[in-house]
Amino acid sequence: AVKSERYVWTEKDVMKHWPHRDDNSHKGSHGKVGIIAGSSNMPGAAVLAATAAVRSGAGLTTLNTHSDIFSTITNHVPEATLFDRKDDLSEFIDDKDIIAIGPGLGVNDDTGGTVEYLIDHFEGPLVIDADGLSRLQELKDKIKNRKHPVIITPHPGEMARLIDASASEVNKNRFDISREIAVEYGVYLVLKGPNTLVSTPAGETFINDTGNAGLAKGGSGDVLTGMIAAFLGRYENTQHAVSGAVFMHGYTADYILDQESAIESMTASQIVENLEKAFHKL
Ligand code: APR
Ligand code: MG
Repeated sequence: AVKSERYVWTEKDVMKHWPHRDDNSHKGSHGKVGIIAGSSNMPGAAVLAATAAVRSGAGLTTLNTHSDIFSTITNHVPEATLFDRKDDLSEFIDDKDIIAIGPGLGVNDDTGGTVEYLIDHFEGPLVIDADGLSRLQELKDKIKNRKHPVIITPHPGEMARLIDASASEVNKNRFDISREIAVEYGVYLVLKGPNTLVSTPAGETFINDTGNAGLAKGGSGDVLTGMIAAFLGRYENTQHAVSGAVFMHGYTADYILDQESAIESMTASQIVENLEKAFHKL
């Protein structure tokens, strides 16, 4: 039987399930995160996702991207290692614990084929965002039968394309749609927007209560993708990890507003820069 419960995932829940890093830990214990993101005209999406992962506790972050933007990436996130998008994907997935794909890839690329390859061959949690979501319909059966968790993170427009509806229909029925699609595909579905919903393959929905309109800017979704990937490496439970990342993303935006900032001028980079202080505050 499919559950249909709704809960608000509060600060108390986040605190209760917070994973504590022990003093003897080494970088391998916190997740080797692989991020497939960025293209020549969207290097920023890759930078944001990778810095967010690094700042959210990933042990090791490797960015798989086009070699013509390697130097841009290194200038902004020296902590990440780089993997050439042209090289063998089987080598890339080999030692990764979590992989996220999508930010800034573009649909004209071989994005769809790469997503399919990961669904078939990568043995770990897979986060699919942005342009990575474009071929999901035809991959439904493969996704459903996958052993490891799949987490998809559409904004209402991307969700609408996935179900052949309009964004306004999605917004009107967001609870039902997010639960139904999570169950139908067997995925953790993050339906973004004010009060982001996290629905599980079992049909539960967790409502987020942090964040503000300062996040309604290009790039903040890329930050969330990197955060979710890193959180997955630190938690045993997928829903706790995903809801924890969604909570912290909004909590950091709220923290920034408290620091004499303004919704108009908030940026996605600022979210990444303030993760440190927001983690500290919590
Ligand atoms: N209140 C709270 N949170 C919000 C709000 C709001 N009013 N608006 C947006 N957010 C949050 C969402 O919940 C999500 O976490 O900001 C993030 C936005 O993510 P995306 O929509 O994926 O944005 P992003 O990918 O960074 O940039 C938008 O996507 O479809 C393309 O053409 C679009 O280039 C644009 C890009
Ligand atoms: Mg996005």
